[in-house]
Amino acid sequence: MQMAVNFLYIIFLHLVTVVVFQSNATPEVPALIVFGDSIVDPGNNNGLKSLAKCNFPPYGRDFEGQSATGRFSNGKIPTDFIASQVGIKEYLPAYLDPELSDEDLLTGVSFASGGAGFDNITAKVASSYTLWDQLQMFEEYKRKLESVAGIERAAEIVKDSVYIIVAGSNDIMVTYFISNLRSNYDIPSYVDYIVQAASSFIKNLYNLGVRKIGIVGVPPLGCVPMVRTIRGGITRECVEIYNQASVLLNRELSAELTRLAQELPSSQIIYLDVYNILHDLIMNSSHYGFEEATRGCCGTGKVEATLLCNEELSTLTCQDTSKYLFWDAFHPTERAYELLVTPLVKNYLPILF
Ligand SMILES: *[C@@H]1O[C@H](CO)[C@@H](O)[C@H](O)[C@H]1NC(C)=O
Ligand SMILES: *[C@@H]1O[C@H](CO)[C@@H](O)[C@H](O)[C@H]1NC(C)=O
Repeated sequence: MQMAVNFLYIIFLHLVTVVVFQSNATPEVPALIVFGDSIVDPGNNNGLKSLAKCNFPPYGRDFEGQSATGRFSNGKIPTDFIASQVGIKEYLPAYLDPELSDEDLLTGVSFASGGAGFDNITAKVASSYTLWDQLQMFEEYKRKLESVAGIERAAEIVKDSVYIIVAGSNDIMVTYFISNLRSNYDIPSYVDYIVQAASSFIKNLYNLGVRKIGIVGVPPLGCVPMVRTIRGGITRECVEIYNQASVLLNRELSAELTRLAQELPSSQIIYLDVYNILHDLIMNSSHYGFEEATRGCCGTGKVEATLLCNEELSTLTCQDTSKYLFWDAFHPTERAYELLVTPLVKNYLPILF
């Protein structure tokens, strides 16, 4: 009897060891794959006749080699910080980079295109790649991955990798408010349209074998320098109705993602909030060492972005970018991006990585 108990005990210990060992072994995340807009576009628009491109100085002024790669900032963009902070690689390249290597395919790329949104009309207006064009590029990427890694390994890479989507800002800010291209919708019905488009995009990704997805919400769009200039009155205040639309989109999107995560077996789908982090950076900018949070560094800082943010056109561009929260009238500086991404990687991404 005693022996039988000991025997069971040993088996029990063995089982515990196996279980503990398995739960300790973190599954490897081979690659980071990104879809979306200019916030995460490392230069996919360079070959397009798009309004949303920036592969010329002063863009990239503080980037390695001072090169204007097509990133919409003075230096690194959020995807570079995410890739390096989780230990994948230092820079996340553009899928359409002519110098893309096999190694880049294995560790991930960005398909994002400046000017894109969940609404197809948003990218069409900017002559950029829609999210659905990006999805087609992803299918092509999968075929290339199969020829580099073999069919089985490619399917594993697709399943184990982390996917980040950053979109929605251009839909609300540019398509709905500034251009008034969806005048047959009110804010709640347009938000609903965007959320349904996002949901359908995610289901398409899932059907292609993707399992781990993080969707970044929108920032307080009413506090973007361009919006302050055109709708914020003489004192260029944050525009409340833009911020309310941002909050509503984030709330509805996050609820839909919770629902999707339950509906799609063995998926991990999470909402990543940036609204509060960025709102804090803007409202309490001096706590973070910024001297200017309402104007971009480029030109007057009030309107210049992409084609207008151009060395040839302006002598007003600031000297010390590190004092500025915004680089141009739409996009944060590298330093602001780092402050934004670091808590995101710390607080949310361990769930996916
Ligand atoms: C966007 O366009 C694609 C391709 O034409 C289509 O499949 C998709 O349903 C469209 N999405 C929306 C939200 O209209
Ligand atoms: C600004 O900082 C204060 C004090 O830390 C904090 O209570 C407040 O919520 C911050 N503002 C925003 C918009 O986050």
